[in-house]
Amino acid sequence: MKPLQPKSIIEPFRIRSVEPIRMTTFAQRRQALAAAGWNPFQLRAEDVLIDLLTDSGTGAMSSRQWAAMIASDESYAGAASFYRFEAAVRDITGFKHVIPTHQGRAAEHILFSCIAKPGDVIPSNAHFDTTRAHVENRGARALDLPCAEARDITARHPFKGNIDLEALRRVLAEASPGTVPAVMMTVTNNACGGQPVSMANLRAASEIARAHRVPFIIDACRFAENAWFVKTREPGYGDRAPIDIAREMFALADACTMSAKKDGMANIGGFLALNDDALAARCRNLEILTEGFPTYGGMAGYDLEAVALGLYEALDEEYLRYRIRSIEYLGEKLVAAGIPIVQPTGGHAVYLNASALLSHLPAAHYPGWALNNALYLVGGVRGVEIGSVMFGRQPDGSERLAETDLVRLAFPRRVYTQSHVDYLAEVIVAVAEQKRELTGYRIVEQAPVLRHFTARLEPLAPLGG
Ligand code: F0G
Repeated sequence: MKPLQPKSIIEPFRIRSVEPIRMTTFAQRRQALAAAGWNPFQLRAEDVLIDLLTDSGTGAMSSRQWAAMIASDESYAGAASFYRFEAAVRDITGFKHVIPTHQGRAAEHILFSCIAKPGDVIPSNAHFDTTRAHVENRGARALDLPCAEARDITARHPFKGNIDLEALRRVLAEASPGTVPAVMMTVTNNACGGQPVSMANLRAASEIARAHRVPFIIDACRFAENAWFVKTREPGYGDRAPIDIAREMFALADACTMSAKKDGMANIGGFLALNDDALAARCRNLEILTEGFPTYGGMAGYDLEAVALGLYEALDEEYLRYRIRSIEYLGEKLVAAGIPIVQPTGGHAVYLNASALLSHLPAAHYPGWALNNALYLVGGVRGVEIGSVMFGRQPDGSERLAETDLVRLAFPRRVYTQSHVDYLAEVIVAVAEQKRELTGYRIVEQAPVLRHFTARLEPLAPLGG
């Protein structure tokens, strides 16, 4: 007898608690979307069949996490749950000081309040929106230096999340002394399609930063997914455990910010971890003001317990193989059907190229928005437009259209199975087949900032069906 060499990568868990999905008809969905001002952010989640709005805080926890949560210590100061959390973060990241926060942006707020001042510049492979907002909130400049391959959304480069090392060298060499408080690396690179950063690139960027005595900081939200890509794509790492790879990544840095809602496998939580004693003291002082006492920092004891275990579960090889494979599997189906996507598929999401798919719609008619709404109407799927509605409005009120409208389909962790993914592919293909019938949208009401969350829109022509 020979053991099976399976072709199917099965979900590496059994499901012991289920949450029903409410089935809806086309007519119900049309009514719900119209009532939501044609804005999926305004939908009730129970009107969505497959919710791919974000992978943040939407994952399923394990029975071990739930068990640990029941046994949490909710003491205000010095809770045992905090020490378990601190030990886990230290074990994986190696940083001396662990400052819990209620989510990733709270860690960013504390960090940048303590290190950035007006006129500073903070280079990155690409800042996530909240990171950029916190940098800018301090009057500093958030500078994206993605590698050249990142700009070509169909180029199949293994590490399109990398930073442009030459550009980083130039920025640091030309900056006035004391105006670059940090170099930031986002792993994986969410703003560039969830693409990974290679260890070689992290090491080189870290060396450049150190040569200029500039702290090197990792935005670690999806550090485990990045470790998996290093293991499977970077020569020399194939035999290494994801946890070792993660430790090697963190050893290159002076600090990290983390949203535990992603690779912390929790519904809420985050942290800032760092080595510098004096900076840690300043951060803790601010934390008390905005988050809470430094041994809970905006989290309940049970949240600390969930993250302490979740960080290790995110590094489990079987889990990572299944996670990255589910996304790649959807990507393969879409490419086979001729649907344009960002390639290769990244760690947490598939990004559809709405501008290419709906090439009959001009950018000013918001093809990304139209595609995302069609996915909902046709199959009850909710993604998110990353394009002109999200980024087009300028501070002076003018409109600058995005070069390419994308729709991000982000996968919650351990929530959907292969049949959900098969269904998803069917929905996307069905939408593509009727693309000529899709109309654009116009905005009828919008807020001055972050308009995509609350804007009300209108289809430019009556919808068929
Ligand atoms: N950094 C990155 C790379 C992120 O993707 C996010 C959140 C944050 C920081 C902020 O963390 O939400 O816990 O405050 N990304 C979510 C998303 C919202 O949908 O991509 P947070």
